[in-house]
Amino acid sequence: MTNPSLDHTMDKQRLLRDLRQLGVQPGMELLVHSSLSRIGHVEGGANTVIDVLLESIDPAKGTLLVPTLTGSSADGPQHPPRFDTKESRCWTGLIPETLRLREEAYRSVSPTHSVAAIGKHAFEWTRGHEDCWTPCGYGSPYYRLCRRGGHILLLGVTLESNTTFHTVEEVVGVSYHLQSIPVTCAMTDVDGNEIVRQLMLHDWGTPRRFSVLEPALLAEGIMKRARIGQADSLLIDAARMFTYASARLMNDPRLFVSPT
Ligand SMILES: CC(C)(COP(=O)(O)OP(=O)(O)OC[C@H]1O[C@@H](n2cnc3c(N)ncnc32)[C@H](O)[C@@H]1OP(=O)(O)O)[C@@H](O)C(=O)NCCC(=O)NCCS
Repeated sequence: MTNPSLDHTMDKQRLLRDLRQLGVQPGMELLVHSSLSRIGHVEGGANTVIDVLLESIDPAKGTLLVPTLTGSSADGPQHPPRFDTKESRCWTGLIPETLRLREEAYRSVSPTHSVAAIGKHAFEWTRGHEDCWTPCGYGSPYYRLCRRGGHILLLGVTLESNTTFHTVEEVVGVSYHLQSIPVTCAMTDVDGNEIVRQLMLHDWGTPRRFSVLEPALLAEGIMKRARIGQADSLLIDAARMFTYASARLMNDPRLFVSPT
């Protein structure tokens, strides 16, 4: 099936203007979940989008992060995930897969939920993930994004792609999110060193409905909506989202669980 948004050609100036109008500014620490095809036809493809995103945050002042997730529903004690920082392709789209392969990119070491980053604090954002007991909880890049004034851009995707809601789930301690026992995971860092850790893994069995919070996050001014090219996009203040969503989830621990 053809994607109608590809009929429109987007250039760098247009995309940069749209990012500015949504509120992306130099100096931001920005985690981007994306769909390239939703933007419309982009001259230069994923590399152009990465260049524009970098220009929008100014890598001398801020940092661009992308999720480079590799986990699968097969992961568990019988089938421990195997992660190689250089070799493991991510399934979160062509933009993150292209960014992680850039020479200047850093990538965190996590069996399932790694991130890649370019910019001023790229090294700091990506270090230490291998020592986090849970994929998105205390100490992880997602958690620190909420604690250090970060923003999340959903570029052509919805709140269903917002991994940082798992941070909220982990910190609140919902019952359905993690597997019941730790798994021994072997990971290879960027220099080829083997790292072995016992870690709690994501349990992929529970369908979510993160978009349930969309009206409230917009009404509270925690999230803004605009188009980047042809892509319906959302810009979120991570700290305010964390505080708001945590309070809602504590009141209703099944808030994010899809009824179907
Ligand atoms: C799954 C997902 C990545 C698919 O989006 P997508 O736009 O179809 O795919 P990508 O972003 O990988 O971009 C590749 C597609 O862009 C399109 N494309 C190719 N060149 C292009 C160009 N120059 N300009 C615009 N689009 C182009 C093609 O359709 C290509 O798909 P194809 O290779 O199958 O032909 C997206 O829907 C998504 O979910 N993203 C968020 C993932 C995430 O962060 N999840 C977190 C989970 S907790």
